[in-house]
Amino acid sequence: MKNLITLDEFILRRQKDFPFATGELSGLLRDIGLASKIISREVNKAGLADITGVAGNENASGEEQQKLDVMADNLLISCLKNSGECCGIASEENDTYVTISESKNAKYVVIFDPLDGSSNIDVNVSIGTIFAIYRRQSAAGECQLEDFLQSGTNQVASGYVLYGSSTMLVYTTGKGVNGFTLDPSIGEFCLSHPDIKLPEKADIYSVNHSQYRDFEPGVQKFIDECIDNGFKFRYIGSMVADVHRTLLKGGIFMYPGTTKSTNGKLRLLYECNPLSLLMEQAGGKSTNGSQRILELEATELHQRTAIFIGSSCLVEKVDAYIKDSSKVAGL
Ligand code: AHG
Ligand code: MN
Ligand code: MN
Repeated sequence: MKNLITLDEFILRRQKDFPFATGELSGLLRDIGLASKIISREVNKAGLADITGVAGNENASGEEQQKLDVMADNLLISCLKNSGECCGIASEENDTYVTISESKNAKYVVIFDPLDGSSNIDVNVSIGTIFAIYRRQSAAGECQLEDFLQSGTNQVASGYVLYGSSTMLVYTTGKGVNGFTLDPSIGEFCLSHPDIKLPEKADIYSVNHSQYRDFEPGVQKFIDECIDNGFKFRYIGSMVADVHRTLLKGGIFMYPGTTKSTNGKLRLLYECNPLSLLMEQAGGKSTNGSQRILELEATELHQRTAIFIGSSCLVEKVDAYIKDSSKVAGL
């Protein structure tokens, strides 16, 4: 049998990369691993038990919550509360951040999208959990808004869990990207994709095509060129799954601004920052069309941003087309 390295073992081994590590970050990563195993179990039952469908509420962005969105959110919050290593949590599903009073002096805050791609739950298509860990900025005591409104470059770790044909956890602490596949028979995430790097090949583009007419001319030109060059088009509709494919197969995922919604749809803190750190760590790029996503200023928890993420050559090209077309428009 191949030498199996479990997620917990891997996290412990990596702790020595950080000379002053006290084990809190490792503890947080293990808690997220545990919560995601439970979420995975529940997601796999979707269709059997009464857990699919709408929950009857709206989230902070006015979107209809699915029952599994609420379940995943509650599970993550309770696992992170148990650990005592995190002083606050911000979730896409909640209006504002949650203070964990039991561990109000802890060093870290965690930001997550508990279930990304929730419109795919009821149709058995891949969905995921996305997370980011930051060191708090405020002095000890209850966490503050400023602890969450940090730029993406401050992320200490980020990652996602993909509930797909298998369940995978992929994360980075800023020293490369590693992927683990859940072996359901032993209930452990095992290292399956060490040191993920984007492949050289970049011939897949991914975007919601139905919005083409509402994209700016530079984005339209880029898409036209992808088609002219015989690129493959893939769009799952769960960002986490589209970005996972991009990490493993190369290409570009885009959620541009439109005439109606200039900052697109995706959220800077819950989706774009964590996935951008992973993409950069795997050798790719991520921008909003002109600026690096990780350097954008966060001004509110549920802030949205346009995003172009994937193989550097493609991201650079679309950025250049956007720049050219805004020059022509005199912007
Ligand atoms: P969420 O389910 O967390 O609200 O996110 C859904 C997002 C993202 O995962 C996906 O890329 C995008 O919505 C799809 O949007 P369109 O339906 O507009 O293509
Ligand atoms: Mn999402
Ligand atoms: Mn979500």
